[in-house]
Amino acid sequence: MAFTALLALVALAASVRAAPSPSAVCADGTRVGNAACCKFVPLAKDLQAQIFQNDCGEDTHEALRLTFHDAIAISQKLGPSAGGGADGSMLLFPTVEPNFAANNGIDDSVNNLIPFLTSHPTVSAGDLVQFAGAVGLSNCPGAPRLEFLAGRKNAVAPAIEGLIPEPQDSVTSILARFADGGNFSPFEVISLLASHTVARADKVDETIDAAPFDSTPFDFDTQVFLEVLLKGTGFPGAGNNTGEVLSPLPLGSGNDTGELRLQSDFALARDARTACFWQGFVGEQDFMARSFRAAMAKLAILGSRRADLVDCSDVVPPTVRTPPKPASFPATKSAKDLELTCNQRFPTLTTDHGAQETLIPHCSNGGQFCPGVQFDGPA
Ligand code: HEM
Repeated sequence: MAFTALLALVALAASVRAAPSPSAVCADGTRVGNAACCKFVPLAKDLQAQIFQNDCGEDTHEALRLTFHDAIAISQKLGPSAGGGADGSMLLFPTVEPNFAANNGIDDSVNNLIPFLTSHPTVSAGDLVQFAGAVGLSNCPGAPRLEFLAGRKNAVAPAIEGLIPEPQDSVTSILARFADGGNFSPFEVISLLASHTVARADKVDETIDAAPFDSTPFDFDTQVFLEVLLKGTGFPGAGNNTGEVLSPLPLGSGNDTGELRLQSDFALARDARTACFWQGFVGEQDFMARSFRAAMAKLAILGSRRADLVDCSDVVPPTVRTPPKPASFPATKSAKDLELTCNQRFPTLTTDHGAQETLIPHCSNGGQFCPGVQFDGPA
């Protein structure tokens, strides 16, 4: 009898453990998997309204870069005093980390997010940085809907300088940094670099503003993986800057600057340890998006234990539906311009029409002056 009762108790305990977390209805009627996620519903709305404006433009790009620069500032070799990973230290110590050379230009996103620490005081700084990146990315056609786990603790100190990879770093040092920061494999490093499909440089060549890394900087497509493999022909601006190499599409006009190529992207696309991973994403939209999502899930929680966080992925807005155009050679380019070091099959791609080298639009609406938001702040 006692034994049967014990069995029943064990069964009950098991069923309690296995029960799914109760869903909750937030103040605005949104149903979420966990009540702790409700605070992110108004935060998503405010971020879209006050910063991103539902655009995969400059402010979204900057917020995505910030997720990386906050998170990778952690080191297994140097120990916890070197940095806490995705802990919001960029926002909490805005006069320290944003001033490091590798963070040049990060002040824009830091200043844009700092006011949300006050307007949404129950959200930690580390959660705010990673959530903002996920909300911004939802505006980019082709992007995956990122995982978002909540509950990061606030940083107690800034990270030290020297933990953010720079474009002039060697492949060996970049791979070693990612391994030390979060046990990222070479495949995961290349997966994370899908981010450079929605990216432009302001600081590599200070004579030009928002120089894109591919011809479609407002779409999360595989174009960056293709274009970095094309032979370089010129520089979009003054040229020969630290961390910059020849680009295949240097032509600009007005605010449309030509494409800028980072030395690190060039080297990773050709190095024996990473070239096949790089090339393998060309034209493989779903594979690239899935791989990026998985690697971002790892990056976004550096410094926390997954088990200590609450899954709030359901509060990340669904990604815009329009699929990006399939990979194609920009006008005037073709397979003869490829510099391949991986001898696996390369997809057959069409070439865009046009007798002249592609001009890359400055704004997602095709215009020359894009709406953008820049708050003043301490960084
Ligand atoms: C090898 C590693 C990496 C290096 C060396 C690198 C380097 C750079 C550089 C030099 C810029 C231009 C900054 C400027 O001049 O304004 C940039 C932009 C950017 N990076 Fe990376 N990056 C790396 C990895 C990543 C990762 C892992 C992510 C995100 C997961 C990321 C996201 C971005 C984004 C979104 C931008 C564009 C920012 C904007 O348009 O304002 N990067 N990166």
